[in-house]
Amino acid sequence: MRDPQDLSPQYLEDLATGYWQSEVLFTAVEKGVFSLLEPDGKVVVELAAELGYQPAAFKRFVHALSAIGLVYEADGFCGNTKLARKYLVRGAPEYQGDSILWRKYLTENWKTLDRCLEQGTRVLFQPADEPEAATKERFRKYCLAMDSVAKTKIEEILPIFAGLNLEGEILDVGSGPGAFSAGFLKTFPDTRATLLDMPQVLESAAGCHAGTNLEGRIEYRPANVLDPWNLPHKYNLIILSNILHAFAEVEAGHVLSQAAAHLADDGLILIHDFFLEHSPEKGALSDLNMLVNTYNGKVYPAAWARQQLQQAGLALTELIPLESDTAVLAAARKPENLGKLQIGRISQLAARIRSFGFEEVKEITPDLISVPEWVGLKCEFGCESFGEAHCPPNCIKPEKTRLMLKNFSKCLLLQGVPPTRQFQARVLKAEHSAFKAGFHKAFSLWAGPCSICADCPGTEACTNRENARPSMEASGIDVFTTVRNAGLAVKTLPEADDYVKYFAVLLLE
Ligand SMILES: C[S@@+](CC[C@H](N)C(=O)[O-])C[C@H]1O[C@@H](n2cnc3c(N)ncnc32)[C@H](O)[C@@H]1O
Repeated sequence: MRDPQDLSPQYLEDLATGYWQSEVLFTAVEKGVFSLLEPDGKVVVELAAELGYQPAAFKRFVHALSAIGLVYEADGFCGNTKLARKYLVRGAPEYQGDSILWRKYLTENWKTLDRCLEQGTRVLFQPADEPEAATKERFRKYCLAMDSVAKTKIEEILPIFAGLNLEGEILDVGSGPGAFSAGFLKTFPDTRATLLDMPQVLESAAGCHAGTNLEGRIEYRPANVLDPWNLPHKYNLIILSNILHAFAEVEAGHVLSQAAAHLADDGLILIHDFFLEHSPEKGALSDLNMLVNTYNGKVYPAAWARQQLQQAGLALTELIPLESDTAVLAAARKPENLGKLQIGRISQLAARIRSFGFEEVKEITPDLISVPEWVGLKCEFGCESFGEAHCPPNCIKPEKTRLMLKNFSKCLLLQGVPPTRQFQARVLKAEHSAFKAGFHKAFSLWAGPCSICADCPGTEACTNRENARPSMEASGIDVFTTVRNAGLAVKTLPEADDYVKYFAVLLLE
C-alpha cells in the first residue's frame, strides 16, 4: 500500500507500468510456459522453439519472468520457482491460471472505465446474438476462475469453524462451482449442501463434483437469488461468498434478509467478500471492477452488512480479516453460537478498533517496543512542552517503562493522523473498548503532549487524570524504531507541513 509520506514519482511510474507485469503473466500462463517447464526446467532456446517464439526475444521474456520471481534462469537454462510450481502449472491442485486468464478477459471492460464513469454504469455487454456455444464456454471459464480462487479462500476460512460440531443443511447462495460447500462437506461429514445459482453455473458445478464422494450430498437448485427464496429448509449454515458485491444495496439487502429468514435457530451465516475496511486499496479497486464488469455491483463497508443483519435481529462478529485480500463476517440468531468460532480475541479487538478511524492497527509483541536512554533528551532540549503535565519530568521514567512493558504480553500499534486531540480521543476509546472486551490491564500510550482537554491548565496539576495518558516518547519510547520494528514505515519530515503520522500503543494481556 502507498505510503503517504513517500513523495517520489517512482510510485506513479510503478502505477503506470503495472500492466507490464500483468501482460507478462497473462502471456506466460496462456502459453503454458510454467507447465512446459515441468518437471526439470528447460534450455531457454529449446523452449522458445517449442512455443514458436524468436529465441532472442524469448530470452528477454524469460529474463523478465525471472525478475518478477516466476522462473529462475542460469546458463541458458530456466525452471519454475516454488511459487510458479505450486500455482501456475496446469493440473496442480491450487492452479490459479484460470483465474489469471479471467482477469485478462476482463481487461477489455477496464479499458472502458472512462465511459463507465461518464455514464455511471457498465457500458460493455455480451452481444445479444452471442452463439450458444460461446456463452457456454464463457460460463465454463468463469466457473473455473471462481473455483480456483474459492479453493484457496476456503482453506483460509475453515480453521475459523474448526471448533464447531456442524450438522444438517448448508445453503450456498451464489455458490459458483461450490468450492466453499465442498470444503465444509469434507470437514463436517454429517452435512448436506444445496447450491443456489444460475442454471448455466450449476451445470458446470455438477460437472465438478460428479464422480466424487460428495456427489450424493449436494443438491443443485437453479434460482435467481433476487427472487424470494422458495426453499424447503431452515439452514444450519448459509454461505454468502463473493455474492454481495454482485449487487446494489436493495438487491444485496434482499439477499441478506432472505438469508436471515432462512437461518435455523442454531445456525450461522458466513459472509466472505471484499470489504472497504479490509485491504482498502484492493477493496476500492474491486469496487471499480464491479462498476466496469457488473450491472450494479459494488464493494460494501462491512459496517453496512453488519447493520443489515443486526436489523434482522442477528448477532455478528467483527470483521475477521483473512491473510489475503478478503475478509469474513459471521452472524447468528444466538450470540453464544458466535463464541464457538475460532477467532483470535485480539484480531476481533483490532478489527473493532480499526473501525474507530485509525489508518492501521497492527498486533505486535511488546518486546518490539524500543526504550533506549536518549529519547528524554529530545524532550528536555528542543520541545516547548517540557514541564507540562504528563510531559517529562512529570511522567513515567524510561526504567519504569521498560519494567512496565514486561507486564504485558500483547500490544496493538495504532496509526492515525492529526489533529492531536482527536487522535488521542480515539486512542482512549480504543483502550476503553479493550477493557470492556475483557482485557482488564488495557493501557495506552499515545503521541504528543497530552491534549485531551481543550482547557488544559498547562503546567498546573492535571484535573482530568481519568482521561490523561502518557505519550510514547515522553515515556522514553523510540517511536521511529518501534514503528519500523513493527514493519510499518515512518520518516523524518523535511518540511513542517509534510504528511504526519501519529502512533500509539495499546498494551494488553
Ligand atoms: C463471484 S461469484 C462467487 C461464487 C462463489 N460463491 C465463490 O465464492 O467463489 C458470484 C456468483 O453469484 C452468482 N449469481 C450472480 N447473480 C445471481 C443471481 N441473480 N441469482 C443466482 N446466482 C447469481 C454467479 O453466477 C456466481 O456464481
